[in-house]
Amino acid sequence: MCGIIGYTGPRRVVPVLLEGLRKLEYRGYDSAGLVYFLDGGLVKHRAPGKLEKLAAVVDEQIGVASFCGLGHTRWATHGIPSLDNAHPHSDCSGNLVVVHNGIIENYSTLRQELRARGHRFTSETDTEVLAHLIEEYLTDDLPAAVRAALARVDGSYAVGVLWAGAPKTLVAARNHSPLVLGVDAEASYMASDIPALLPYTNQVIFLDDREMAVLTPGVITYQSVDDGRSLRKQVTTIEWNAAMAEKSGFRHFMLKEIFEQPQAIINTVSGRIVPDTGRIDLPEIGLADEVLAGIERIALVACGTSWHAALVAKYWLEKWAAIPVDVDIASEFRYRRLLINERVLVIAISQSGETADTLASIRLASALGARVLTICNVVGSTMTREADGVIYTHAGPEIGVASTKAFTSQLAALFLFTLHLARVRDAAPAEQLAELGQALIDVARVIERELPLLQTRIQVLVERYYDSRDFLFVGRGLNFPIALEGALKLKEISYIHAEGYAAGELKHGPIALIDKEMPVMALVPRDSVYRKSISNVEEIKARQGRLLLVGTQGDGHLSSLTDDVLYLPEVHEELNPLLYTIPAQLIAYEIANRRGCDVDQPRNLAKSVTVE
Ligand code: M6R
Repeated sequence: MCGIIGYTGPRRVVPVLLEGLRKLEYRGYDSAGLVYFLDGGLVKHRAPGKLEKLAAVVDEQIGVASFCGLGHTRWATHGIPSLDNAHPHSDCSGNLVVVHNGIIENYSTLRQELRARGHRFTSETDTEVLAHLIEEYLTDDLPAAVRAALARVDGSYAVGVLWAGAPKTLVAARNHSPLVLGVDAEASYMASDIPALLPYTNQVIFLDDREMAVLTPGVITYQSVDDGRSLRKQVTTIEWNAAMAEKSGFRHFMLKEIFEQPQAIINTVSGRIVPDTGRIDLPEIGLADEVLAGIERIALVACGTSWHAALVAKYWLEKWAAIPVDVDIASEFRYRRLLINERVLVIAISQSGETADTLASIRLASALGARVLTICNVVGSTMTREADGVIYTHAGPEIGVASTKAFTSQLAALFLFTLHLARVRDAAPAEQLAELGQALIDVARVIERELPLLQTRIQVLVERYYDSRDFLFVGRGLNFPIALEGALKLKEISYIHAEGYAAGELKHGPIALIDKEMPVMALVPRDSVYRKSISNVEEIKARQGRLLLVGTQGDGHLSSLTDDVLYLPEVHEELNPLLYTIPAQLIAYEIANRRGCDVDQPRNLAKSVTVE
């Protein structure tokens, strides 16, 4: 979704804004713009398309002596991607500008009203009403005018406002869309996400809903959007550094992040398995053992890849912790009748901690009395602040739009939680749980060893698959969600139509699609459902489907079925989802790369989906 960057301080602002926008590119966008204060007025530049277009437009102004400004990448919601619709948006005088992420739901009524009062609109966006609305209320107190305008607005917003009447000042406000502020001794920053701030500071403040901030160089003050009451905010130190958000020699962030997975899993597990006893220690979980022991049901909610992690966790939790588990897509969960109460534990899984539907789901669940736990990768993100407890994944910043290391780290965190709950509920013997904990560490090592070999093998195989029109992924049991994940990865970055199925479900319809043109990646480890999976593979072969099999080293039967087999070492069956994810990610990556797709920023997609 849209990206916002704002700066006021001693540096020349244009390079800071452009660099900040580059760091936010991964959020997804279709146009970009920036504005800065100069010689008593505001200078605005905008361009549709990629950031290079904006950079070309501002090229000659790069060193301009301006020290305060705002930048924006726009992911279109209201109005097509175009120059006119690109942010920043101005009031009638051009002396006040707004950048915005979110949706102003009552914009149409406000627009009519403002038009009737003589305001002239130049875009189709919902955001422009905000600029005119602030203009309506502005005398000489910008924060007061912003507050008055926001009082009229329904919907979600993270906004930055710059006014020629207050040269070194930025006003920021937030409601349901992320906004993080950065501080150092001389400068103040605002951004939609942490990576944009990392080159300058790791001291950040997260704005909460209906909070505003007034930024001047090195000083930020906070107030309530509702009544202007001043607020005190806490600074959070971010452990990530700027280098972690760079490609470090890899062609794409996605590839780098695929290769970071062994370390991300180790970091997520590290310090959480007590040596000797194998007990799981989750200090931020925020839920005492007695509370967990009294839970009768778990509801897992998430979107996209995180939802696939939830599907795997259902198998684990039901098997090892002997507790019933429901899994919901957050956008469905929030609009159906919820049979949730204080005996239900709701677990929200999210890389970003900002996904609008998942966030709305935890708010609903809390209101119904449920305990809420979040599995999240971003320290201080909204979900981590609103949930009763957190299990952080320690994957480091994930920049590629296609989620990879966040997924396997979520699996690691969910597996740890399963072992913890199994002990609390006395559902499995301690030795067995300790053995499973060790198996989780082992799988990270196996992935580390296998990754380069797999990539080389897949780079060869890809020549036979990259121009496919469709693709199926199938798996059974724990590998069914991995089939879904493989299909999602492939479709989002290569634009090949792909579907994931439970292998046993094929003959209930999808098998009609199989012919000699249809590639099928089948995940068939030697596990407890191996024989059933092989029968499904035979059915595909009988219909001349193009089989790409992923199975256990030494399983010669697989190579009698097809030439295209990827062999993986045997790991504990419960941990197969982590291992079998790797070839699915790599096949998607190599196909997309071979097709020349924009792997890290696929069309139409945003990294963090902060609007419904
Ligand atoms: O930040 P979240 O984990 O809440 O994001 C959820 C989805 O938007 C995300 O997983 C999305 O499906 C990815 N593009 C998948 O690669």
